[in-house]
Amino acid sequence: METNAEQSSHLFHVVAQVCQVTDDTVVDIARKVFPSWKKIAGPVIEQVKTIDFVETVAVLTAISRTGLGTFRLLELGTQHGISTCIFLDGLRAIGIQPRITTYDVVLKQRAFSGGEVDARIEDITTRCGPVLDELDPHAVFLDAHPWELTYNMATEARKRQKLIFTHDVSDDLWSARLQEGRLPLKGNECNPFVQWERKVLEVVFGPGIHTGHHVTEDYQIDLIRSTHGVAICQPLRGTQWTTKNAGSRG
Ligand SMILES: C[S@@+](CC[C@H](N)C(=O)[O-])C[C@H]1O[C@@H](n2cnc3c(N)ncnc32)[C@H](O)[C@@H]1O
Repeated sequence: METNAEQSSHLFHVVAQVCQVTDDTVVDIARKVFPSWKKIAGPVIEQVKTIDFVETVAVLTAISRTGLGTFRLLELGTQHGISTCIFLDGLRAIGIQPRITTYDVVLKQRAFSGGEVDARIEDITTRCGPVLDELDPHAVFLDAHPWELTYNMATEARKRQKLIFTHDVSDDLWSARLQEGRLPLKGNECNPFVQWERKVLEVVFGPGIHTGHHVTEDYQIDLIRSTHGVAICQPLRGTQWTTKNAGSRG
């Protein structure tokens, strides 16, 4: 049986392929980020479902590939602020100045201080476009679950050619019943056995996302098969950082 270290090393190799960087680059990011991830997530990872280490490294590697010195990230689903802090400290650890805005509908966060993050309490389901235009983030991290919110934000972010990171897209969290249409496509329930995220990506980017590597005319979408699964959706053009080779992985 594979050890965790072996599994991580395999997934780091996948991250390197997805982000078109060397394995050494990913390992270097992992090494820099591990201390802060461990400090923040270590005490809570068993009780609180937040991003695991591979997911953190995948998101930060995709961000680092943009070459931007200051990075604006919009997170949906602040909850306790754990993933926010992981991104905040992780970005700093790899030399990128974070500018993070988060949304939740209830105030539960106590992990970061007011000045570090622009934490907002509001349901922006019907105004994702205007919020993207106001904040102009480089990326969105979708971790709030409701179908309509996730669908609207992914659709509007695609129109604006943003990097889109979607949490909870692993095979375990994917229900084939959603494909067969036995469950309503519009619903806001937060059922731990039925996550809408992957279905939303399928509707927004096409059914090929289930293969794990899918290229449309404007995006490359990869599923990292980590604990909860994270989708890395990278625009192929129309951004100041778009890399020539994106989309060319076999
Ligand atoms: C899975 S948790 C987020 C976990 C967090 N990102 C982390 O990893 O530490 C989902 C959060 O989404 C929030 N949420 C639910 N509906 C929302 C909405 N319409 N807008 C923003 N957040 C919402 C819930 O209140 C909950 O705190």
